[in-house]
Amino acid sequence: MKKAAAVTEHRSDRSPTPDGTPDRLAIAASRPDDRAAIGEIVRRSGVFSAEEEETVYELFDEYVESDDSGYEWLSARVDGALAGFICFGSTPLTEGGYDLYWICTDPDWRNRGIGRRLFAAMESGIRKWGGRLVMIWTSGAEAYLPSHRFYERMGCGLSATVRDYYRPGEDLLVFVKYLPPRKTKKKTS
Ligand SMILES: CC(C)(COP(=O)(O)OP(=O)(O)OC[C@H]1O[C@@H](n2cnc3c(N)ncnc32)[C@H](O)[C@@H]1OP(=O)(O)O)[C@@H](O)C(=O)NCCC(=O)NCCS
Repeated sequence: MKKAAAVTEHRSDRSPTPDGTPDRLAIAASRPDDRAAIGEIVRRSGVFSAEEEETVYELFDEYVESDDSGYEWLSARVDGALAGFICFGSTPLTEGGYDLYWICTDPDWRNRGIGRRLFAAMESGIRKWGGRLVMIWTSGAEAYLPSHRFYERMGCGLSATVRDYYRPGEDLLVFVKYLPPRKTKKKTS
């Protein structure tokens, strides 16, 4: 079973939510038939290039085709329709390190708390699997400034900047969030 399948969050009540999140939102492991809708969200996101869109498909196909691709995908659905997704995975050669590769909310559903819920579902999975930190590589380009604010709101700190990494004038920024260890139940004997 894919690890992501163990991260399931479902809200069944229909009452308005205090944080403004749509009340019919469900977060669960992405399904193979999410592929087209994920591609559509990426295309409409306004920040990703055609090459990046191809990479999203590549990672998704690896996730669908193999149980140990190293990629976890979670989809956010509102009334069954895809409203966002997140892709992350453990970082090879680290103990408990994880990378967040992609997070995207459909432009029609932005600023409604979906990104926050996806991020929290990822964190909960990582902690469950003994992870300690999540690292995010991102561009310093102006188009990504809103996502930098988002990462800061999610409790990530800017850990490193590599000047001119992507191309002259476009830096690499590395954000990191350190996760608290899960409380283990005390043995009673
Ligand atoms: C970044 C992104 C995923 C945020 O998703 P979202 O569903 O709109 O985010 P939320 O509504 O859950 O917002 C969570 C917090 O981030 C803040 N935030 C979200 N977008 C923001 C923006 N454009 N500018 C400043 N802050 C922002 C919100 O104010 C909120 O803070 P609060 O809860 O403390 O008030 C979304 O804007 C997106 O898909 N962007 C395009 C793709 C992208 O750049 N992905 C990241 C690189 S892979």
